Amino acid sequence: MDHLLNSWVPIAYSKEVATSPIQVIVAGIQIAVWRGSNNRICAIHDRCSHRGALLSRGTIIGDHIRCPYHGLQFDGKGVCSSHSVVSIGNIRCSKNLQYFHCRDDFGVLWITRNSSALFPLSALLPLTFIIKYQISDNISCNAYDLLENLLDVAHFPFVHATTFSNPGVAVNADAVIYAETDYGFDCTYTLPIVPSGDFKSLVSAEAYEVAVVGRFIAPLTQLFYVSYNTGLKYASVQCVLPISATETRFLQFAFSESVSDGAADQALLLADHAIWLEDKAVLESIQRHVEPDWSGVRLEFNEPHSVHLAKAFRRLHQT
Ligand code: FES
Ligand SMILES: [Fe+2]
Repeated sequence: MDHLLNSWVPIAYSKEVATSPIQVIVAGIQIAVWRGSNNRICAIHDRCSHRGALLSRGTIIGDHIRCPYHGLQFDGKGVCSSHSVVSIGNIRCSKNLQYFHCRDDFGVLWITRNSSALFPLSALLPLTFIIKYQISDNISCNAYDLLENLLDVAHFPFVHATTFSNPGVAVNADAVIYAETDYGFDCTYTLPIVPSGDFKSLVSAEAYEVAVVGRFIAPLTQLFYVSYNTGLKYASVQCVLPISATETRFLQFAFSESVSDGAADQALLLADHAIWLEDKAVLESIQRHVEPDWSGVRLEFNEPHSVHLAKAFRRLHQT
């Protein structure tokens, strides 16, 4: 799963990194993340190169992170920049640590180790958009299963019958792929909506078709635009963060151009959260015993764009 970090991986919301360092785990790799003195985000391997203590339990000193064990300091490039201030013994930095390029955009922290990785969201999402909500949750399932779920329309009539889908009608999965990109693809499709529950306040018809513009960004992010017939237009981003083979973090955040409509924003949050809980329940019932293949060669996603997905993953693997 190591090559996932060849592209931008969403690791946390910006607000989660304040004055103290935190640890994030990406596919088993422990990473210390902190904000330097000028608010700059830094991310390096979370193991001190002296005795392997967790740097994320250390202290921020200016732009550096100080190891909690013997006080070695590392900068945002993983360079051990000062010997321990402790004069006893022979505490020396043996090697520098792996570091990650960081971005703090759209209220989310993104990291990659590939300096030439594109940042694809910015091409589609104007920075003037206003954040409407942020959802995050941990789920006991494999990241591969969650990613498949987010792209799969076949489960809608069964899993989402009490939010937006029609229990009696299969969703037409025909999508138009209008661009293949270096990191995924862009598509459009129509989604039949039969609102119930929290969804009812979002739309004003018993049933209608909503146009969706979607962008898949390998390996772990998808963005889609929808506009409802009440005039509500928004962009939603869904991110999958693999922690281990059986544990995954889900981040979903939405934007719109409208400055303030508290009631509509609240309805959107409730509806999307209800959908997430429906997915979570079924995903946590899955017991997959085989480690999925992320290389893209044998991707067998249960969704209509498998060929394009497989290509995107292969490109990433070869980067
Ligand atoms: S383990 Fe970090 S300075 Fe010794
Ligand atoms: Fe779903």
